[in-house]
Order: sequence, then structure tokens, then C-alpha cells
Amino acid sequence: MIHVRFGFCGPVLACPVVPLGSLYQRVLGHPFVYNQVRPRVLGGIDMSPLYERLRGTRHTILDVGCGTGDALRYLEDFDEYVGYDTDPVAVDYMRQTYGSRPRVRIEHGLVTTREVKEIAPTAAILAGVLHHVPDDYARALLETLQAGPRLTRVVTQDIVYVPGRHVNNALSWLDRGKFCRKKEGYEHIARSAGLRIEASDLVPSHPANRFVVYLMMTLAPDK
Ligand SMILES: C[S@@+](CC[C@H](N)C(=O)[O-])C[C@H]1O[C@@H](n2cnc3c(N)ncnc32)[C@H](O)[C@@H]1O
Repeated sequence: MIHVRFGFCGPVLACPVVPLGSLYQRVLGHPFVYNQVRPRVLGGIDMSPLYERLRGTRHTILDVGCGTGDALRYLEDFDEYVGYDTDPVAVDYMRQTYGSRPRVRIEHGLVTTREVKEIAPTAAILAGVLHHVPDDYARALLETLQAGPRLTRVVTQDIVYVPGRHVNNALSWLDRGKFCRKKEGYEHIARSAGLRIEASDLVPSHPANRFVVYLMMTLAPDK
């Protein structure tokens, strides 16, 4: 049986027919759709409230799931920025856009404790990543980040289910990320990974959009 439903950027195909699934990944995971179409559908996306959480310190930043490099539209004053992503198309796009920027490194692949120790980030970003992975994986990712000896801060941003916010919840349900949670669900994962929650806020996806909110958390190692 083929299930068709409509997401932020078009139809979501949840079916056993592999070519359709990969077509969906190719079209809706395309950098142009992610960077240009998605913000228009949502009436603009403003991620500055997330990156303001890193202001005031010249960080060595590890951006896990950096995608096409959206963070670099907001971040300027850093010692070093290292972006990791498992999607080769997003990494290629990001390299073309930001590859020559000073103090920026872009890597394709999974981050393990070895890379985290070598990079020794003072801050880590997980923007739009936790809602793509199951609880155990999310917890392990947050634990991996703490292998870095200098880590002071992890900032996260995700879609979130909020009681009574029907438009937000419908769009979240239609998102490609299949692990959208309530606020408490994300907070539980962070705590169980040994992180302290310094802030956890529902933030409008754009100042002009009253309908869609993101959960933004500021986390710190509980040492
Ligand atoms: C919704 S996109 C967000 C991209 C970017 N952070 C942004 O804010 O625009 C999520 C990204 O996380 C990547 N991803 C998911 N799990 C990952 C992992 N374990 N390691 C690295 N990247 C991962 C996906 O390939 C995808 O590009």
C-alpha cells in the first residue's frame, strides 16, 4: 500500500517502493528546496535566536548535521568552525558556498568521539537534527559531544509538538523528520545524556509567524 501525505515542501511518500522514496529524498532534500522553497512556504525562517546563544565568546564550533551551511549565515566571530554532515549533496553545496571562508572546515561523515576529541569544540550546534533521529541515537550523539575536553555549550533547534497549537503540530507531523517530540521529550533526552538545561524555549520560526514554533535549548555539560 502506498501512503501519500503532504509536507512542508510537497508530498511525503511513505511506501515500500524504493525509487519513489529516493526520488523524494532527491527532490525534497535538494539544497535549493531546503534553502529557498522551505522558508517561503513557512513565511521566512529566522534562526538568529539560536545563534545568539553563542554570542560573547570566540568559540571553536562543531556543527553536527550542518546541512548546506545555514549556521554560517549567522555566525561570524569564531575561532574555528567545523561542520559535519552525512549527506554528500548538502556537503558539496556547502563547500561551494563557504569552502573558502577562513577558519571554516567542512567534513562529510559521522562524528565519533575521535573527531570530537581532535576538534575539541567549546560549543556544538545541533540545528534541526534531533527530530531526525530516535531517542537512543539522540542521547548517544549528545554523549559523544561531551568527549570534547573544552565543551561549554550545546545549542539545539527542532520542530516540536505543543498542546493546542494545531497548525504547528500538523506541519511538524508532516515534516521529513520522523522523531518530532514534545518539549519535555527533548529535555528528557538532554538530561539523560548528562547535560544541564540552561534554557529551553519555544521560539517563533520567524518574528512575523505566529503559527510555527521551534524548540531551542541551551545545554551545558553537568560537571
Ligand atoms: C534538517 S537538516 C538541518 C541542516 C542545518 N543544520 C540547518 O540548520 O539548516 C538535518 C541535517 O542533519 C544531517 N544529519 C542527520 N544525522 C546526522 C549525523 N548523525 N551526523 C551528521 N549529520 C547528520 C542530515 O544529513 C541533514 O543534512
